[in-house]
Amino acid sequence: MKNPDVFPTITTERLILREITEADLEWYMRHFSLPEIVDSTGFPGPKDMAVAREELESYILKPFRESTGIRWGITLKGSDELIGSCGFYKWEHEPHRRIEVGYDLHPVHWGKGIMKEAMKAVIDYGFVNMGLNRISLMAFSFNKRSTAFARRMGFVREGVLRENAFFRGRFYDDEYFAMVRSDWESLRNSEG
Ligand SMILES: CC(C)(COP(=O)(O)OP(=O)(O)OC[C@H]1O[C@@H](n2cnc3c(N)ncnc32)[C@H](O)[C@@H]1OP(=O)(O)O)[C@@H](O)C(=O)NCCC(=O)NCCS
Repeated sequence: MKNPDVFPTITTERLILREITEADLEWYMRHFSLPEIVDSTGFPGPKDMAVAREELESYILKPFRESTGIRWGITLKGSDELIGSCGFYKWEHEPHRRIEVGYDLHPVHWGKGIMKEAMKAVIDYGFVNMGLNRISLMAFSFNKRSTAFARRMGFVREGVLRENAFFRGRFYDDEYFAMVRSDWESLRNSEG
């Protein structure tokens, strides 16, 4: 299975999940430098525009081209302004059909169910269009918003990776979650 030639825009009730392009470089720099995003992902923001350009290429543009991942930019209907992103990386194709997922929303939009709406569509896309069998997710143990979010989305906690991440001079535990195809099927069936 490969990504399609044309980026698959997704429309939900309130959102349009669109392609992120080089024209979004300034947004990339700003968004991934937000203290709330840096503190919760442990991913240090790009130090300048040159680094931002390299990251945009290696984390967003190249994975789509090479079918190793796919990341959507989140916009509210009626505006093309990006308010966050979410999507897949580390796509392992046949026979494993597994992938990892990540998400980040501008803090002014937290607490409105926006990421839930976006991720529901993205998860459905993964199981339906990419033929995935397993989606996994890792979050710092202290990132309670993200671990609560993972549970709300129906991810199952599989354990803790002790001192898995080094960030700002010390080690942190990671919580490890996954949703497998059968979880997803039961979830969507129970939603009617
Ligand atoms: C993790 C993150 C995406 C969660 O965002 P969020 O807005 O809390 O998550 P949701 O979209 O599920 O919104 C749920 C909240 O909106 C509320 N809400 C309001 N309207 C809603 C609606 N229509 N539908 C669903 N929930 C709604 C819910 O009650 C809930 O509020 P609560 O947390 O106070 O109980 C966000 O905090 C974030 O981007 N954090 C920084 C990046 C990060 O941590 N990334 C993950 C690294 S592993």
